Amino acid sequence: MWLNIKSFDEYKENFEESKKDRLKFWDHEAGTFYWRKRWDKTQSGSFEDANIKWFEGGKLNITENALDRHLNTIGNKTAFIFEPNHPDSFRRTITYKQLHEDVCRFSNVLESKGVEKGDRVVIYMAMTPELVIAALACARIGAVHSIVFAGFSAQSLSERINDCEAKMLITNDGLRRGDKHVPLKDISDEALESSPSIESVIVCQRTNREIDWKEGRDEWWHNLIRNASREHEAVEMDAEDPLFILYTSGSTGKPKGVVHTCGGYMVYTSYSFRQVFQVGADDIYWCTADAGWITGHSYIIYGPLFNGATGIIFEGTPTYPDAGRLWEVVEKYEVTHFYTAPTAIRALMSYDIDYVKKYDLSSLKVLGTVGEPINEEAWHWYDEHIGGGECPIVDTWWQTETGGIMISPLAGITPTKPGFATLPLPGVFPVLMDEDGNEIEGNDVSGNLCIKHPWPSIARTVYGDHDRYIQTYLSTYKGYYFTGDGCRRDDDGYYRITGRVDDVLNVSGHRLGTAEIENALDEHKKVVETAVVGYPHDIKGQGVFAFMICDEEIKDPEAFKKELNDLVTKIISPIAKPDKIQIVAGLPKTRSGKIMRRILRKIAANDLDNLGDTSTLLDPSVVEDIKKGTAY
Ligand code: PRX
Repeated sequence: MWLNIKSFDEYKENFEESKKDRLKFWDHEAGTFYWRKRWDKTQSGSFEDANIKWFEGGKLNITENALDRHLNTIGNKTAFIFEPNHPDSFRRTITYKQLHEDVCRFSNVLESKGVEKGDRVVIYMAMTPELVIAALACARIGAVHSIVFAGFSAQSLSERINDCEAKMLITNDGLRRGDKHVPLKDISDEALESSPSIESVIVCQRTNREIDWKEGRDEWWHNLIRNASREHEAVEMDAEDPLFILYTSGSTGKPKGVVHTCGGYMVYTSYSFRQVFQVGADDIYWCTADAGWITGHSYIIYGPLFNGATGIIFEGTPTYPDAGRLWEVVEKYEVTHFYTAPTAIRALMSYDIDYVKKYDLSSLKVLGTVGEPINEEAWHWYDEHIGGGECPIVDTWWQTETGGIMISPLAGITPTKPGFATLPLPGVFPVLMDEDGNEIEGNDVSGNLCIKHPWPSIARTVYGDHDRYIQTYLSTYKGYYFTGDGCRRDDDGYYRITGRVDDVLNVSGHRLGTAEIENALDEHKKVVETAVVGYPHDIKGQGVFAFMICDEEIKDPEAFKKELNDLVTKIISPIAKPDKIQIVAGLPKTRSGKIMRRILRKIAANDLDNLGDTSTLLDPSVVEDIKKGTAY
């Protein structure tokens, strides 16, 4: 077994080794970390019993592996470069030693505020180093962090806080994203009106705007940290203690709190980061995600820190002040590894190529993509214009629930193919399933993507709702983890993810449940019923198309659409706004009352000649009416 795979042959050998003896493989990997006590059992439980545990009996603190163990070797190395929203604002670098000190200080702050092991802390912050410090400090004292993307509304924030009954909220006064200002403290105040579990709020200053203050509840980060000690003894955790909860959308109901645990998540994110990106000691790695998503958790915060990498924390957006912003940052810091979402690539492709050509991108060695299928045109543009035809592209497939990258080329090692996530990492065993629940053998086949054996960073449960965990992931195919994705395996055995097969949308790489959006739209007083589907969108990958029945005539559909957009922004977030709406007299339903979304998806995609069988509909004429209607 190789800790660092360096050739395709080594990859294949490692994969075979992991197949022969999975547990030995992960034992070997886990052995590279600092454990206060070694584990007794590598793995127990199964997809049948839904009680999966890794490295049971092992004692550790994940921050000792991210920070403390580096102090004597690379203490003075830069852990993070912080690049602010505006290129002229204050930027800074933070060494491993400084980060360790900051985390220790903030750990002491949290403990002084009464936060204890197992308590939940919600973090709703700008993409600044303080967000990372807050998360790591939670991990250090054994509190469970739940980072909420700072683009979510007060209602979404409140729902998440209530679901996990968080004790503390950490936020900023506000943030700037591009030319927009987001009043995080005001939004938090509104959320907290309906979130009684929060006892204290720590506010980190970022925009210096005036904010309301609730004495006894709110305190400034800078006041608390001032006198806090730089020393902190990390709290000992069991390998299976929860590390964080991250909310994500499912096909039904409200977002679910995906729970990851300390030991397995540590082992897998570290392993996958190292093998996939192949970051060297002097490299500069930049993942443009927000820490509010799993990509930020695993590949901005944890994976890179375990490996002693230098990463960038970027507060801005790809198009502010102009569409050359990402490339300006690449040039400025001589970035070697660049990891982003296809939606950003597609958006930037639509601008003049001079925004790219202006900058020297010769430092780049590896490019990555994540979050949604990448179309071939975007892949080639990325390869040619950003990578100069010389940088391997790692198209990394994974999910919030998988914790880390599952199927991906290893940079410079696995031969790539545009649009293909290629091959599984050693230790990961994907299978394609047919409609009858059988594994599809051989190549040049398509099916539903499942994973056959547990891997260390699989989500352990849905917070407070283990049944939902079982229902969503482990019930469709008994004995397998079901991903919700459709997939093709080509002649070479390479995997190409084709998209979700459930009612989950992927809009600009953001995961949204159709039910969530429908519930929000139904709140409008004129709306009787809504059916939301995705449709192909040039930039976003998928757009949101809402078909709706209204109880009165809509005289000004554009104004109505704006009202709906405002409503969705208020209830969920601007990312969930419908791109198109169509008012209909009826929705295509089966006799049992189920909406046939398959038909609506075709209509939304303007694929009208190919609607398939409509004979099971209660009223097939509904479809003809919808086909004739107008979308706004
Ligand atoms: O449909 C797949 C898509 O994103 C889903 C997971 O979304 P989320 O949990 O928000 O995590 C995104 C970041 C890991 C998957 O079920 N997806 C993710 N990566 C890819 C992808 N689809 C195609 N290719 C990918 N590389």
